[in-house]
Amino acid sequence: KRPAGAPDKELAKKVQQVGIIGAGLMASQFALLFARKLRVPVIITDLDQGRVDKGVAYIHGEIDKMHEKGRLSSDDANQVKALVTGTTDKSLFAQCDWVIEAVFEELSVKQQVFAEIEPIIAPDAILATNTSSLSVEQIGANLAHPERLVGFHFFNPVAVMPLLEVVKSPATGDEALATAMTLAKKLGKSAIITADRPGFVVNRLLAKVMGEAARALDEGTPLPVVEKSLAPIGIPMGPFELIDLVGWKVAAHVQDTMVNAFPDRFYSSPNMHAMSELEDPLVKNKIGKVEDLSKSAKKALTFGKTP
Ligand code: 3HC
Repeated sequence: KRPAGAPDKELAKKVQQVGIIGAGLMASQFALLFARKLRVPVIITDLDQGRVDKGVAYIHGEIDKMHEKGRLSSDDANQVKALVTGTTDKSLFAQCDWVIEAVFEELSVKQQVFAEIEPIIAPDAILATNTSSLSVEQIGANLAHPERLVGFHFFNPVAVMPLLEVVKSPATGDEALATAMTLAKKLGKSAIITADRPGFVVNRLLAKVMGEAARALDEGTPLPVVEKSLAPIGIPMGPFELIDLVGWKVAAHVQDTMVNAFPDRFYSSPNMHAMSELEDPLVKNKIGKVEDLSKSAKKALTFGKTP
């Protein structure tokens, strides 16, 4: 028997070609997942050829790593590489039956992306957004067919995080929901259906953790002390290593969304926004250690200055 709220699997559409709008780190990670798990053609696009090429190069690099680790045979590695194509020509999306966006977290940008793509794709193609915390209903507000938009929220690193949030907005139709759930399973993820509320479920909890970690620093608790605070409850990364993983801009944006939605319940740190202005503070420098975060942070920030 179908659990309450779960869609009828029979309604799921077959996905034979995937289109991905955005070729940043998150989009590239799930482009690879789609190609590897579904073995169907995947097209990625972005604003310019440079970004597209960077995304494809990242995907090829990750495939090579998997091959070196013995996770993909050389035939499989070549097959998966050949399935991923980068383009700036959106007309090629006409063949895609599942199109997902992972562009900048700004409502108007996401709306614009779908306004451009909807007239190109087939009338029964499904649209998905990887938004971390924006309203899926608002993202699809200007669509001719808002019922075909569903939230499909991945977690970083996409290859290893087992969860996927499938967001059902009041407009999401049964076919889109069923397709999303079936797809999640084929991608090897365990999917939960969440309501279209700010931060859905996961980021609602994470924003609390990240906001309070930032507040502790703003109040003068030293960074290494705050960073160790999640270890006793079995969370594998400290709050700032986690922010570094998801990206400071994304984290600050999620924080803003939550503060706007629930001003009395969430905290937005000015220092978190200052960090988000630095381009990838840890990742860029390939440092990856909390001690070094305090070094780079010290240059730009007041974080942790007061003992
Ligand atoms: N990309 C691809 N694979 C990665 C990776 C990455 N960035 N980071 C780690 N991995 C892989 C490794 O290659 C390794 O695979 P292998 O077993 O095939 O060699 C496997 O993950 C384990 O990696 P490590 O040996 O380095 O093991 P760790 O024990 O250090 O685990 C971790 C790394 C899995 C990232 C772990 O620290 C973790 O689970 N961290 C928490 C991550 C988390 O909470 N993510 C959610 C963030 S919220 C989000 O994304 C939502 C957004 O909207 C804000």
